[in-house]
Amino acid sequence: MDSDYLDNIFEKAVFGINLIKNRKTLTIDYVPEKLPFREEESKTIAQVLSVVLKKGRPSNLLVFGKPGTGKTAVVKNVINRLKKKSTEHGIEITVTIVNAKTANTSYKVLYDIAEDMGTNKIDKKFKVHFTGLSMGEATDRILEYIKKNNLHVILVIDEIDSLVDRNGDDILYSFTRANERLLESGFISLIGISNSLTFKDKLDPRVRSSLSEEELIFNPYTVLQLKEILNERSQLAFNEGSISQASINLCAAVAGKENGDARKAIDLLRVAAEIAERERATIVIEKHIREAQEKIEKDTNYEVIKNSTTHTKLVVLSILKSQTGMTGDVYDIYISLCKIIEHDTLTQRRITQIVSELDQLGLITSNVVSHGRYGRSQIIKIAVSSDTIIDALKDDPYLSTLL
Ligand SMILES: Nc1ncnc2c1ncn2[C@@H]1O[C@H](COP(=O)(O)OP(=O)(O)O)[C@@H](O)[C@H]1O
Ligand SMILES: [Mg+2]
Repeated sequence: MDSDYLDNIFEKAVFGINLIKNRKTLTIDYVPEKLPFREEESKTIAQVLSVVLKKGRPSNLLVFGKPGTGKTAVVKNVINRLKKKSTEHGIEITVTIVNAKTANTSYKVLYDIAEDMGTNKIDKKFKVHFTGLSMGEATDRILEYIKKNNLHVILVIDEIDSLVDRNGDDILYSFTRANERLLESGFISLIGISNSLTFKDKLDPRVRSSLSEEELIFNPYTVLQLKEILNERSQLAFNEGSISQASINLCAAVAGKENGDARKAIDLLRVAAEIAERERATIVIEKHIREAQEKIEKDTNYEVIKNSTTHTKLVVLSILKSQTGMTGDVYDIYISLCKIIEHDTLTQRRITQIVSELDQLGLITSNVVSHGRYGRSQIIKIAVSSDTIIDALKDDPYLSTLL
C-alpha cells in the first residue's frame, strides 16, 4: 500500500504536466535580453558609454529610481552589449561591476573591485588583501594598478546609496578624483545606481557634481507595462496554457499598487507557480496569486519583526497585548514587560518614535479618535496576524518567556 502511494507520486513527477519549462527565468538574477519600455533609458546609457569605443573617457553617470524599475537589468544589458562590441573590434576596456549592498562594508567594496578588475590576480604589489589594509592604501593600489596598465575602466557601483548611508562618500571622493591622479594613463568612468531618489543630497557637493555629470531617472512601471513584462516572462517560464491571463493581470495589478515594482511582480509569479506545483495544479490561477501575495507579505513581516531590536519587539508585543490600543496603555504594558525580563526602559518619546516607524513599515495601523471635549487620543493596532508575531518573537531568548 505504502509503496503504491509513493510510486504514484514519482509516476506523476515523471509523467505529470509540468507547469514550468524554464525555472531560471523566474529567479532574481535572471536578466532577459529584451527589456520592454526601457529603450530610451538603454539608448541614453549606450550613448554615454559609446565614447569608450573611441578610446575616450565616458562621463560619470548616476542612475536612480525606485526598486524594481529595471535599473540593474538595463545597465547590465547595455554593458554586456558594449563588451561584445569591444571584443569584436579589439578595443580593450575593463568593466567592473560591484554591489555595495551585498558587499556590506566599504572595505569589502574595494576588495570586490580589486577582485573583479583582476588587480589581485596579476600583480602582488597591487594586491588588495581580504583584510588588513587601510582604506586609503587599498584605493591607492587599485589606482596604481589602473595607471600602470593604462586601463580604460568602467566601474559600476550598484546600490551605491547603501554604501553612502553606511560609510559616507570617501570612496566615491577618491574615485571621482582619480582621473586627475591618473594623468592620462588610463581612466575610470563611474556608473552609480541608486534606489534612493534623495541619495544625491547626502553627497559632498564636489562628489555630487562629479558623479552626476550625466543623470538618468527610471520611473515606476504602470500596471499595463507590468502586464506586458509579465506576459513576456511567462512565455519564457511556463509551458503553454500553464498560466491564466487573469492571474497575470492580477499579478500586474498587485505589483502596480506597490510602486510599479517589476521585481515584486516576478516574485509573485514565482511563488504562485511554486504553490500551484505543490498542489499539482495543471494551471496557475488567480487563487494561487492571492496565496502567493499572502505568503510574501507574511514572510516579509516575519523577517522585519525577527530582525528588529529588543525594544521594538517589546513595543510590538505591548500593542498586541493591549486591550484598548491607547498609547498610554501600550506604554504601561511596555514598562511592565521590561520589568519582568529586567530590561532597561526607554522614554515615552522614544516609544512614540518606534510606533511611528512600525506604522511606516505597515506593521501597525494608527488612528486618532476624538473624545469630544475630553480631547483626542491615538489608537494603535497590530496590522499583521498574531501568529506571525509570535513566530517571529519566539526564538528571542528575552522575549520567549513573555509570550
Ligand atoms: N522592462 C523590463 N522587462 C522585463 N523585465 C524587467 C524589466 N524591468 C525590470 N525587469 C525585471 O524585474 C526585476 C527587477 O529589475 P531590476 O533591474 O533588478 O530593478 P532595480 O535594479 O531597479 O531594482 C528583474 O528580475 C528584471 O529582470
Ligand atoms: Mg537594482
